[in-house]
Amino acid sequence: MRRNFRFAIVSDPHVALPHTIWDHPKRFHLVEVSIPALDRIFAHLATLELDFLLVPGDLVQHGERDNHTWLGQRLAQLPYPSFVIPGNHDVPYPEATDTAIGFDEFPRFYRASGYRDTDRHYYTAEPVPGLHLIALNSNIFDAEGVQQGALDDDQLAWLEAELAARRGDRVFVTIHHNVIEHVPQQSRTKMGRRYMLDNAPVLRKLLEDSGVPVVFTGHLHVQDIAATDRLYDITTGSLVSYPHPYRILEYDTDCHGGAWLKIESYRIDSAHIWDDLGHFSREWMGDRSRPFMLRLLTEAPLNMSLEQAEPLLPDLRYFWADIADGDSQFDFGHFPPKARRFFEAFSARTFDRAPSFIDNFATLRLCEPTSLPPARRPRRIEVSQS
Ligand SMILES: [Fe+2]
Ligand SMILES: [Fe+2]
Repeated sequence: MRRNFRFAIVSDPHVALPHTIWDHPKRFHLVEVSIPALDRIFAHLATLELDFLLVPGDLVQHGERDNHTWLGQRLAQLPYPSFVIPGNHDVPYPEATDTAIGFDEFPRFYRASGYRDTDRHYYTAEPVPGLHLIALNSNIFDAEGVQQGALDDDQLAWLEAELAARRGDRVFVTIHHNVIEHVPQQSRTKMGRRYMLDNAPVLRKLLEDSGVPVVFTGHLHVQDIAATDRLYDITTGSLVSYPHPYRILEYDTDCHGGAWLKIESYRIDSAHIWDDLGHFSREWMGDRSRPFMLRLLTEAPLNMSLEQAEPLLPDLRYFWADIADGDSQFDFGHFPPKARRFFEAFSARTFDRAPSFIDNFATLRLCEPTSLPPARRPRRIEVSQS
């Protein structure tokens, strides 16, 4: 096995300088961790031979000019290249406000992180020789100025042309919104849908037909690897919510022409004023999970009454923290049958529903680009848990 390149992923850092922090008791994200946690990660990465860093969006707390300025400059100082894309929190408004940047301004803050010579919100780069990174923008605004998570027609046409020009090359794609479902019925429930790209099926088909093996996403704040039979969606949890993870990945090739992606996950266990960040943060999430769990119980598909839902809540206090951790197996044997089936379906499973532990540590076989037409390519998903 020959190592071709090594890269890291830090997602949803939601950077917040102290004077920008939104002070509210219901705030879900521990944004005060963002800068000390980034410092810890950069110290770790400095000890590796790293080829590049990927940050798939939600770079700052909520569009703040000061935070974008800080992060753009910090990334520019790193000894390896970095590549960012905008998340919904990076460009929340079409026009600038007193504190937040306008949508058009985003590329200017990240000239050293992918937007060197473009004012468009999407680009291609060659982080290492022979690897084409296609970085996409999933933020658009409707006629009323309301933000949506989708690719617009112009970008889709551009992407189609890029993929056609790169056919047979090694291509990775990154985008903030999820492209493959990471939790059950993500595209069909109100709560899940907002984390999916609206036109995910279109993008999925385009990537699969073009032989792109993997897309890196964020947004969901969960450690998870999902796949169709030809495409992986590797989503990385948020740096500012439990379990404060980041990933280091190695791309290897073997002498038979096979390509492998080895994934390792790490977590920040102390930062800011917390020596035991993991414990504090899990409790913080548990303390704030009640309204969220109540919605899961009372909205479709469970549609429980408040009286039915209430007794189940204590057992769901850490449910979302466990999901965010990745690789969780759930047993709700004492729940009513329908609720039991619903919540146990969130257990980590392989594509044929067997228990699986690939969300944090895994070695994935990537289908190398091939001259075979898509329909004749061998189905492939090979995973080894490591
Ligand atoms: Fe997001
Ligand atoms: Fe986020």
